[in-house]
Amino acid sequence: MSQLYLTFAAMEELVKKIEDYRKEINAFNVSGNDTAESFRIKYLGTKGLIKSVMTEIKNVPVENKKAFGQIINDLKLFAENKYEELKSAEENKRLGHHTGDVISDIDLTLPADKLPLGSRHPISLVRNKIVSIFQRLGFAVAEGPEIEDDWHNFTALNISENHPARDMQDTFYVSHPGGGADWMLRTHTSSVQVREMEKGKLPIRIICPGRVYRNETISARAHCFFHQVEGLYIAENVSFADLKQTLYFFVQEMFGDTVKIRFRPSYFPFTEPSAEMDISCLICGGKGCNVCKHTGWVEILGCGMAHPKILENCNIDSNKYSGFAFGMGIERITMLKYQIKDLRLFSENDLRFLKQFTSAV
Ligand code: DAH
Repeated sequence: MSQLYLTFAAMEELVKKIEDYRKEINAFNVSGNDTAESFRIKYLGTKGLIKSVMTEIKNVPVENKKAFGQIINDLKLFAENKYEELKSAEENKRLGHHTGDVISDIDLTLPADKLPLGSRHPISLVRNKIVSIFQRLGFAVAEGPEIEDDWHNFTALNISENHPARDMQDTFYVSHPGGGADWMLRTHTSSVQVREMEKGKLPIRIICPGRVYRNETISARAHCFFHQVEGLYIAENVSFADLKQTLYFFVQEMFGDTVKIRFRPSYFPFTEPSAEMDISCLICGGKGCNVCKHTGWVEILGCGMAHPKILENCNIDSNKYSGFAFGMGIERITMLKYQIKDLRLFSENDLRFLKQFTSAV
């Protein structure tokens, strides 16, 4: 059987058809009934247009077969790529995305909404500041338990059982599964002094920040828990002048170098001599106002030279060693620093109050 090859004109027509299909394919867009699937059926399906031009190959003269095969294959690849494109365009539409340059109307490069960020509690800010000032003078931070025994909170500090100083600090006693000695919530951080001295490593240069508890009626000026920083320096030849200079440095760093200090004689069972230290009023600069009750001075801490008896209680030779100690309330320092009038604000957790303290003093 003789083969009927396509005439030259018929071949030209076939080439033209292929070019037309290519243009159509290129212009095809998904919309209405024109879907990726309708495209596939029309061009790539078993009864599709590309198949139909492929069947013509057998009628192409041998010498042109290869070239024809090539252009039909190109068309097929072109259609297959287009089909993939159309499918992803449909998928984007389904997800509510746009096609074209903007892939999505959700801009994934935008920074996320800010998460609300808390701020440090003013007591923590001031505690950190106090700690960093004393650290610069070589003091290390020491900590102790909040549930204390009678020895560390009272007896070792020269506050014996019937000492009136026990009444000055209304104590919360707790029952302890171990029984034995009286247990209590520590009434001051001076208990940490005892624990450090008992370790027997000298010299000692520590500050002890922490929470303390007293059974007091809550008011603008008193609370059943508050915070203290205790300081202790024990070495050879420590003098009251060292104490004064150390505290003066602290006050200047904390409140500025125009603030003055003064010491008033006082009494603490664990120091001899004892003193209370005042600073010139930050509000009126010493002229007299409501805050300083018209005296020009406000009290900020208690201090003194470590009593030889407490050194002996902790097995430290009081003939060889001497030292000073001081203790201050963090709430008090914070109230002076920020002019806060009510102690209760510190424990109410009202964000409107707490948010005002965002950075260190
Ligand atoms: N512990 C005393 C109190 O809570 C404060 C204090 C006073 C501590 C004098 C000291 C000090 O170390 O030397 O009231």
